Amino acid sequence: MAKIKKAFFCKNCGYESQKWMGKCPSCNQWNTFDEEIISRGEPSVIPGLSQKVVKPLPIQEIRSGDFDRFRLKDAELNRVLGGGLVAGSLTLFGGEPGIGKSTLLLQTALNNPELRVLYVSGEESEQQIKMRAERIGIHNPNCFILTATNTHDILNQVSQVNPNLIVIDSIQTLHTPLLDSSPGSISQIRECTAELLRFAKESNVPVMLIGHITKDGTLAGPKVLEHMVDTVLQFEGDRNHLYRLIRAQKNRFGSTNELGIYEMQGAGLREVSNPSELLINQHAEPLSGVAIAAASEGLRPLLIEVQALVSTAAYGTPQRSATGFDTKRLNMLLAVLEKRCGFRLGQKDVFLNLAGGIRMDDPALDLAVVSAVLSSNIDMPLPADVCFCAEIGLSGELRPVNRAEQRIAEAEKLGYKRIMISAATKGISQQNFGIKLIIAAKMEEVFQQLFGGQ
Ligand code: TYD
Ligand code: MG
Repeated sequence: MAKIKKAFFCKNCGYESQKWMGKCPSCNQWNTFDEEIISRGEPSVIPGLSQKVVKPLPIQEIRSGDFDRFRLKDAELNRVLGGGLVAGSLTLFGGEPGIGKSTLLLQTALNNPELRVLYVSGEESEQQIKMRAERIGIHNPNCFILTATNTHDILNQVSQVNPNLIVIDSIQTLHTPLLDSSPGSISQIRECTAELLRFAKESNVPVMLIGHITKDGTLAGPKVLEHMVDTVLQFEGDRNHLYRLIRAQKNRFGSTNELGIYEMQGAGLREVSNPSELLINQHAEPLSGVAIAAASEGLRPLLIEVQALVSTAAYGTPQRSATGFDTKRLNMLLAVLEKRCGFRLGQKDVFLNLAGGIRMDDPALDLAVVSAVLSSNIDMPLPADVCFCAEIGLSGELRPVNRAEQRIAEAEKLGYKRIMISAATKGISQQNFGIKLIIAAKMEEVFQQLFGGQ
């Protein structure tokens, strides 16, 4: 019988200490230490993992070349993964409960029949998973379901099934027999991830982990979890909206700017390959306070509707609230309008909303935000065929944005007749586009151009 050993762990960063401390010496947070019973017996053998001794290799002898990637059927997932699933990678999917993590990964498991997939669930029974699979409506004899929570049982089964992909739903339900603490505790999450990481690296089989997030939006479990895995994908979206977004927060094999968009339907998640058409509402008649921004997420141009409402403040302090857009940035833009263009917005409530429950922080949205606010302020709709694409500086100047050409091309593709851009945009000439470019250098000109100085 191994001697019972206790340790204290920081809930924030996973730092381990023999005694309780008020302040974590690693991340400087206060009151984050919890006691957990751990008991490390003799170094145990983890099934499926070799005990081989590793030796250093001269760098010339290491095979170079691109990562072995498997292109999944799902183009959105391939995009956020950086071009496909890398062999031997450990990917963490974080997201709030009910957002669709299990749906997405079961769908991925079913959708790629050339992969032998082991879907391990510690949360749901086989019947529940079968029901979900029936809802998704894809049959795949190559997808195996295992309900287990003990990592050694799982690794034993893995050697039987020999899968090409393992899905773990979720990392918080797993426990390793090497530790006595309860599943979901920091030491368990850390140890189970470490075992899976070793397995993935040794066997070259990719492993996808589902991770819950806490109320404040961080992944439940220590930060070390994020450090250990190769890729962290965050599933976001408003549960009341249909759209679900996947962003890469960390990716050792690709860019973190990419965005995947899905729509939750009755039969699973549908890829949205043409998001602009969904993010722009078709209004029967033009409405005041609505402007279309030619934004871009990662390499993907995307047109989005910005809605603003400006009204006289009912109380002493005017309210400024933004959904999907940074409120500080909104305040800054309102200050620029007030100072540089003389609009009296100081006593007005301003509300701002991006369509579809999407959150964006592309600076190119600035001009659309300002135009929507101006339009709502004077209660005059903007022309329906114009869209906007520029950042606004503190002195009210329009600044160029990156990937302007792709944004203009996307606006043209969606049938817009005019796009307003900064005069400082380089390398853009009218001859290359069918859409008319409206060039403005300063905020004052924008107002002139839009409303003819009314
Ligand atoms: P789920 O994948 O269970 O979420 P998570 O694993 O992130 O907790 O998805 C839950 C929601 O998705 C649930 O409220 C029902 C909805 N849903 C659909 O709308 N269509 C579907 O085809 C499926 C499978 C789920
Ligand atoms: Mg789930």
